[in-house]
Amino acid sequence: MSFPSSHRRARLRTLDLPRSLLLLLYIFALLQPTRQASVFGERSLSTLSSDAISHLVSTPDPVKNVDPANSASHLSKILIPRPPDTENNTIVRTYIVSTLKALKWDVEEDNFIGETPYGSKNFTNVIATKDASASRRVILAAHFDSKFFATYPQNQFVGATDSAAPCAMMLDLAEALDPLLNQRKQRLEDGLEDDEDVADTTLQLVFFDGEEAFRDWTATDSVYGARHLAERWSTTYISPHTKRRLLRPSETEISTVEHLILLDLLGAPHPLIRSAFLDTAWLFDAMVSVERRLFDNGAFVYGNDQASSLTSFFLARHKGDGNYGYIEDDHVPFLRKGVSVLHIIASPFPRVWHTLGDDASALDIPTMRRWNLILRVFMSEYLALQPETKASRSDDQSSFESHRPVAHSELSLT
Ligand SMILES: *[C@@H]1O[C@H](CO)[C@@H](O)[C@H](O)[C@H]1NC(C)=O
Ligand SMILES: *[C@@H]1O[C@H](CO)[C@@H](O)[C@H](O)[C@H]1NC(C)=O
Ligand SMILES: [Zn+2]
Repeated sequence: MSFPSSHRRARLRTLDLPRSLLLLLYIFALLQPTRQASVFGERSLSTLSSDAISHLVSTPDPVKNVDPANSASHLSKILIPRPPDTENNTIVRTYIVSTLKALKWDVEEDNFIGETPYGSKNFTNVIATKDASASRRVILAAHFDSKFFATYPQNQFVGATDSAAPCAMMLDLAEALDPLLNQRKQRLEDGLEDDEDVADTTLQLVFFDGEEAFRDWTATDSVYGARHLAERWSTTYISPHTKRRLLRPSETEISTVEHLILLDLLGAPHPLIRSAFLDTAWLFDAMVSVERRLFDNGAFVYGNDQASSLTSFFLARHKGDGNYGYIEDDHVPFLRKGVSVLHIIASPFPRVWHTLGDDASALDIPTMRRWNLILRVFMSEYLALQPETKASRSDDQSSFESHRPVAHSELSLT
């Protein structure tokens, strides 16, 4: 996929420069051939130290937010029947919004009316952005609606893997990374951040409404929220302001999305995730590498789970693999508009898919804990965050003394 070349932003401290020079550099940037690969395409990600990984593993507790046995957990608050345009859907949305507002994220409720086989319905996506003034963002997304069923008892469907657990994982990630994102911003302001290009990418969480079909999955009866948002963002032009002034005047919201990482059907044990798109295969590999390094760090030892070898969540890629056929989901409207997508979906789907069995009993705590840890480390490395390490801590008591040294684990693509 190709992206407008103006995304390649000059690496300079713009505020220190006279406007005329800035304008010249701006024109120069526009004349450059497409070289934004360092930002939008493949780039090398930072690699966290074993100490930094240990910090992310323990802080905050990676289980409490996804524990269905705790009625106060994020997961429990989401795990109710919540089809679009119902009171319960509003309750869940309000919970997500207030959780992210409490972290002082910029939260938008994107409300619209869509035409469904049951007539007009009211939908609302939730878009939460850590730093709304950042010039680019990486999106982590899942759908928060549950599938509508007309009759009892099917209408008690709570969609635990589909996608209550992914939504709870996203809230966990926001809480885990929020202080680290603040620290990165401070480093940037203090001139201590050497990679401004990366440091100007913010984290955005999107909770889609109306992913599920009301009847049978068709182009017009599915992904209501994603279709609406992709259309809106591709027709919304960014007004030049603050850091965004280096973007072309014709830049649209959607063109500032580096990657859309979509989570779906996660939380059941033994998921298998495939790389769906060649252009994000490197990002897929980066996530596989994170899982490996967490394992090597002893991070997956939990409860009775003492596995001495790693059974990966991911299907290893092979040289010469092409694009797998992709699974239809909320990413498709964005994919069609040129957004680069990493689709993290279990396939085969969980056995309980779209049945009443997709409730708390379908979820596996060590699996959800592992997802939380993978997301924490993966997004930290993507965003060049610097979790506290033992060396930088005054209190040297680590709850994680027994970790093994990090093996230099290259992915073996056989
Ligand atoms: C709303 O959620 C509650 C659980 O909090 C559930 O008992 C109730 O059946 C749900 N309402 C509908 C209409 O599904
Ligand atoms: C749709 O929902 C929004 C937000 O909850 C509300 O303000 C609006 O009145 C609703 N519109 C309709 C037609 O129900
Ligand atoms: Zn579903």
